[in-house]
Amino acid sequence: MFFDHLELAPADPILGLTDAFKADTNPKKVNLGVGVYQNENGVTPVLKCVKAAEQILVNEEQSKSYLPISGLPEYGRLTRELVFGKDNPVVSDGRAVTFHCPGGTGALRIAGDFLVQQKIAQRVWISNPTWGNHFQIMGAAGLETAKYTYYNAQTKSLDFDAMLKDLSGAAHGDVVIVHACCHNPTGLDLTPEQWEQFAAFLADKKLLPLIDFAYQGFGRGLEEDAYGVRQILKHCPEFLVASSYSKNFGMYNERVGALTAVCASAEIAKKVESQIKLSIRCAISNPPAHGEKVVVTVLSTPKLRAQWEQELAEMRDRMRRMRELLADKLGAAGAGDFSFIVTQNGMFSFLGITKEQVEKLRQEYGIYIVSSGRACVAGINDNNVDYLADALATVIKG
Ligand code: LMR
Repeated sequence: MFFDHLELAPADPILGLTDAFKADTNPKKVNLGVGVYQNENGVTPVLKCVKAAEQILVNEEQSKSYLPISGLPEYGRLTRELVFGKDNPVVSDGRAVTFHCPGGTGALRIAGDFLVQQKIAQRVWISNPTWGNHFQIMGAAGLETAKYTYYNAQTKSLDFDAMLKDLSGAAHGDVVIVHACCHNPTGLDLTPEQWEQFAAFLADKKLLPLIDFAYQGFGRGLEEDAYGVRQILKHCPEFLVASSYSKNFGMYNERVGALTAVCASAEIAKKVESQIKLSIRCAISNPPAHGEKVVVTVLSTPKLRAQWEQELAEMRDRMRRMRELLADKLGAAGAGDFSFIVTQNGMFSFLGITKEQVEKLRQEYGIYIVSSGRACVAGINDNNVDYLADALATVIKG
């Protein structure tokens, strides 16, 4: 027998919640688990700009033959423009190479595979707390993992000093996963001054940044959210960026992400490119095309691009408004001071509640939150916010 010794694996702490939510018969249930945007009506919409681009593709696409291993060159260029800024020389001077990977997760895994296969690094530092999948992905690629402090639970804020102190223990050549914006799960990001200091620190310590950039446009804006990446570009000659269009294009199930490697010279970039292509060939052969073509169509058609930016701003503004509303309602319900929710960015709020309280919310109210206390604020709307605030207040007051 080959398989009979296997144990049943636990449900995924994030995606497993969606299954549990679907099976819940409570008519008042609220899903604040997985990081998926929901509109005012609790629906995850297809953006209008995406629908329009898909229509163009239906009419004009001539072939479904394989894409190049790296994806379309145009996709790479447009991705670098978004990440680094349209006029930055690194967009087209050959120092940076971009690969379409299946989602941000795929980009992280290809990065891990490349680092291990090319014997570039052995250890990766990951923030504590972090997106639960980081440890699994890096472990599966064959990297050792270490944690650096990020969050102070007492003050409910980012502990920048502790972060630098922990990373001072990293060895030259170690990799550091850096959340570019909308830190998952805390929603707490570095200030511009801290980014400058951190980027200089990474360069000085000769650490390799692996930037996880899954939420561009969900924090303060497309340009503002790229501040940290661009500081790292100023200071560090080499680094990797795993970016994603899952969230900002609402194309979760098209698996459309990118890995970009910034290298010290165009000559080195060519060699890096050839090796990352090998990693991709071994893992997925070549990327899926549909989402990538939609992104290229939207970003390169001025009217659709403007529409996208507007739709993205609407999502961002709605999430911010829901943060304010929830903080106000929690205050009014006597749950204490939750004004920190408003200072957090993006999709997630780290509520600072215990596992037991999370469990109670689920059992007694059908409210689904990740067990760490991470709530997806995109699941809040005017119709469920009172129910949510009352339930949270009751559970918190015990
Ligand atoms: C999340 O953190 O909820 C999302 O990034 C979805 C996922 O894959 O976990």
